Amino acid sequence: MFTDKNIVLIVSGGVAAYKSAIFARLLMKQGANVKVVMTQAATEFVTPKTFEALTQHPVVTDLFDAHNESMIAHVSLADWADYIFVVPATANILAKMAAGIGDDAASSVLLARHTPVIVAPAMNVNMYENPATQRNLKTLREDGVIIIEPAEGMLAEGYAGKGRLPEPDEILALADLKLRQQTGRLAGKKVVVSAGGTVEPIDPVRFITNRSSGKMGYALAQAAAEQGADVTLVSSSELPAPVGVTMVPVQSARDLLAAMTERFDDTDVAIMAAAVSDYRVATPADQKMKKNADHAGLTIDLVENPDILATLGQQKTTQYLVGFAAETQDLLTYAQNKLEKKNADMLVANDVSKAQVGFGHDTNEVTLLQRNAALEKLPLQSKLALARDIMNRIASQVEGK
Ligand code: PMT
Repeated sequence: MFTDKNIVLIVSGGVAAYKSAIFARLLMKQGANVKVVMTQAATEFVTPKTFEALTQHPVVTDLFDAHNESMIAHVSLADWADYIFVVPATANILAKMAAGIGDDAASSVLLARHTPVIVAPAMNVNMYENPATQRNLKTLREDGVIIIEPAEGMLAEGYAGKGRLPEPDEILALADLKLRQQTGRLAGKKVVVSAGGTVEPIDPVRFITNRSSGKMGYALAQAAAEQGADVTLVSSSELPAPVGVTMVPVQSARDLLAAMTERFDDTDVAIMAAAVSDYRVATPADQKMKKNADHAGLTIDLVENPDILATLGQQKTTQYLVGFAAETQDLLTYAQNKLEKKNADMLVANDVSKAQVGFGHDTNEVTLLQRNAALEKLPLQSKLALARDIMNRIASQVEGK
């Protein structure tokens, strides 16, 4: 989101101002051009020289700065900016923003702005919880300002509470996500993805599962979040959650069915990347099963699990439904059959007998089958690159609907 973008970074006066130097550096590492505006109070915590050295641009601290090239620096800075960040944002600058006051360089840039503004409040917990601050934050949200919530933790005053500035990399990741939620191709859409192999108990210590790692489903969830969707990932895998994605942990196929059907009515896109066990143990034992004394073999009765994709296919109204097919032979015949039988809109077929394809790998190669469209082969690539390609195809189908 920030490569080649012009960013005005406003630093207001709080102890956390030192983190904003690291934040400026991170923005520049992303390829952004950064110009800094400081309030007078901020200069008590960090000197403008620090930011000048980092950004290679003069820092604006004064509305009527004689050294500034522009007579009306606040307006030209606001015009120049693709995005404006306020990091850290004190209660004072939030109040000025909410009231539309422009009595110094920082607040005047904010008053003249016409591009997205992202603020990261940081202050004492009592100042943060003060009704006036909460009222101001509500006003700013209604005005379309993006707020990065402060974190809980030890404050400069020596006691814990909400008000700590999140770490610069977290601010960057959350800002990126929230901007995409305003401008991405899937902005305003709800996407639910399932990932990982289901876990069917045999007894309290044993279970039936498969080789799915969850990587493909997680990559799809990340790709959907990158396009601005509100994403829920229903997963049995314990991989770290992609930024901004809501996790719903599940184990068995029946857990997964419940989690998917509960959300399906309120979903725009549902993607079944999970490897669901077709069968489960009819009656899992309550206690750990013991070896037979006579060394006889063991037979476990299995019963069929519900077919989740087919169930969603039957319930489908406006949702765009995507299934996968993991095959070791006759890939396209089986995949076409699944597309039709399960009433999906898209089937992503992977031949898991091939090297580097499917279960557990970091790469995958698939063929996309869609109704009334030609087959499309997506070559072997990382699961994330592939997920981005798949999500672009999905976005083309649901965008604007
Ligand atoms: O998790 P990774 O290690 O990254 O591996 C990725 C993957 C190989 C698991 C993934 O790319 C994949 O192919 N997922 C689907 C695996 C699978 O169960 O395929 P299937 O052909 O058996 O099932 C067809 C479709 O029906 C799938 O969308 C599956 O989620 C769904 N299904 C299957 C059985 C069942 N009882 N209910 C279902 O909903």
